[in-house]
Parts: sequence; structure tokens; C-alpha cells
Amino acid sequence: MNLLVDDIGELVTNDPARDGLIGVVRDAAVLVEDGRIAWIGRAADAPAADRRIDADGAAVLPGFVDSHAHLVFAGDRAAEFAARMTGERYTGGGIRTTVSATRAASDDELRGTVHRLRREALRQGTTTIEIKSGYGLSVRHEARSLRIAREVTDETTFLGAHVVPAEYADRPDDYVGLVCGPMLRAALPYARWVDVFCERGAFDADHTRAILTVGQAAGLGVRVHANQLGPGPGVQLAVELGAASADHCTHLSDADVEALAGSETVATLLPGAEFSTRSPYPDARRLLDAGVTVALATDCNPGSSYTSSMPFCIALAVREMGMSPAEAVWAATAGGARALRRTDVGVLRPGARADLVILDAPSHLHLAYRPGVPLISEVLHNGVPQCLT
Ligand code: NIG
Ligand code: FE
Repeated sequence: MNLLVDDIGELVTNDPARDGLIGVVRDAAVLVEDGRIAWIGRAADAPAADRRIDADGAAVLPGFVDSHAHLVFAGDRAAEFAARMTGERYTGGGIRTTVSATRAASDDELRGTVHRLRREALRQGTTTIEIKSGYGLSVRHEARSLRIAREVTDETTFLGAHVVPAEYADRPDDYVGLVCGPMLRAALPYARWVDVFCERGAFDADHTRAILTVGQAAGLGVRVHANQLGPGPGVQLAVELGAASADHCTHLSDADVEALAGSETVATLLPGAEFSTRSPYPDARRLLDAGVTVALATDCNPGSSYTSSMPFCIALAVREMGMSPAEAVWAATAGGARALRRTDVGVLRPGARADLVILDAPSHLHLAYRPGVPLISEVLHNGVPQCLT
């Protein structure tokens, strides 16, 4: 059984073998077979197929790859957001509020939130999502968070080092010992990545290096929350350890930019966090001009960025961060795939996963041009049309 997506006005492939950054093919069609792309070409040359979806001249893109989200939590921090909008600063202090609520929640409550947000993201075109733990912060609760995250994605990240929980406040070294030992062992069956919030008030360079090194030795890939609230050692550490991604990258020195440019580490920018904490946006133009690979992701979490919308992040990146619409679309698809070291998603070419978004718009430009408008009309995931209602 195969499926032809036909009459595509503008097909964004991200295939480097085609013209331009995002490899646009006009008047295109895509043949899908067994969950993969089987053929891409001009609609006029399309082969016969068992089933046909008529895109009616609209734009089609690879599904968004959201490489940074914290979906396993309970509780609500809307009041904290409201306080920030009238002048309070964001410090990350609210993380402990979410930790208390998360520990108190049942498995089914957490599962309900994760599945609800995963569906919310899918309705907005996200076909691959990374999900972190980090609101459990005990051996049992971190393992539980990752086990539940695994129900909806293979891209799971152990973030036991999000903050030092209240019960370890006066003995952070002991907490790092717990993270590096029993907590990591309990997380391993459910995690692909290890991450640390490397920031003043969270974990310093020595603690970060210790946790990431032991996680890496246990077989996990490395990612880092780096340079979000101020300058710091996170980006340099990420590069030193060969991290797949340094996330946030809001406060960077010239040396940080240079280190990223000469590395395999992607700079993942999370403009939802700056929007929601009323902070200056990261300078995407500076990174791109230096040759750094940039990804965009939502950082969806109840504190600093409660959005699951990749189109919203694209609009912010274009309006506020100096990215062209094509650069932002690439960063939200192929960039996210690089940040997860994936070659099968974020690109449309024969053999790639058939994760496609059909827009209710004639071109990718509309994602930034029409902010806040639900432009996702159909989503195919593994070649299967998804029910979006
Ligand atoms: O990526 N910065 C650390 N962690 C999250 C925020 C978590 C929270 O405030 O609950 C982030 O922005
Ligand atoms: Fe985050």
C-alpha cells in the first residue's frame, strides 16, 4: 500500500542535493511507502499510487523536530509568569515548585500531561520530540519520569541535574554523587541522552563535567543547558565533551561562538524562554554568520516557556533574532535533527522517514508572516495521516 501526496505548490526538502538552503521543489509530489519516502519529483511525473492526498497547491515541509522539551511535570506556574510580565525576574527558582507538584502526582496524572502535550505538539506539526526528566530529582521519580516519557518518544534525556533539590540544599556534592551513581543507573534503561543545567544557582563547571562524563561513559549522548541566564562555562564544556547540542546560548562570548563554529555541537535556541521570561533574545545572526549550526526548539515547560508550538518559535526567530524565514524553517526541522544526531528526520528525500506537514498556506514564509494562526492542515507521521482533532 503506497500513498502519493500530490499537487504540492512548494515542497521544502532540506535536501542539500537540491537548490538553496531548504531545497525547494515547485509543483511537486511525494510518494510514501512503508513509512518512508520512496520518490520525490515533479507532480507531472508522479507514479500511480494506491492512495492520493491532494495538497491543492499548498506548501509541504518535513515535520518539525523539537529537540528540547520538558513535558513530564505537574502543577501550574501561571502566576509566576504573570508576575514576570509586571517586572519580576526569572531565576529558575520556580523549578522546585514544579518538583514538589511532580513528586506528588500519580503516574496517570503525569502520563495524561505528557500525552496531552505530545498531541498538542503534533497538531502544530511536530513529528519528532525530545523529552527530559528533571522535575523528579530523586532516584525513583527521575526513573518514573523517563519511563513515562519513553511512552511517546525514543528521544529521552536524563536531567537529574536540573537543580539541587531542597533536601540536598546544603550538600550539593552529595547530590552530584547521587546523580552520578544510583540515579544514573536507574535512568539508563529509559534514556538516550544526559543533560545538565550549567548555570549560576544550578550546577557549576566541575559538577557539570563530572555528571556529563559519567553519563557519556555509560553510553548516553551529551546535551547541555548552557549560558541561558548569564555568561558561563556551559558552551565550552559542551564543545569539549563533544555534546550534540548546547541549548539556550543566550549569553555568549566571542570565544564561545568560535568554539561552537569549529565543532559538531549545535546551538539550540529557545526563543519561547526569552519571550516568557521577558529576556533579551539570543543573537542567531551572529551564530549563523560565524558558521555555527543552529536549531530552534520550544523548551516547552511550565516555568520558562509553556509553548509547544514550533511555528511560534519560527515566528519569534524571524522577527526578533535576525533569522530569515528559510533559516528558521531549516533550524526547526533539519537543525533539530542535527541536534539529535538523526539523519532520518528533518529532511525529505528517498529513504527518509515520511514525516510531512501540509500547510494551509502557499509557502513556508507564512509560518512567520501569519504568527499565531493555525496553519497546519495535515500531518503524516511514519507515512500515516494523523487525526488532528
Ligand atoms: O530550560 N533552565 C532550566 N530549565 C528550564 C526551565 C525550567 C523551569 O523554570 O521550570 C529551561 O528553561
Ligand atoms: Fe530547558
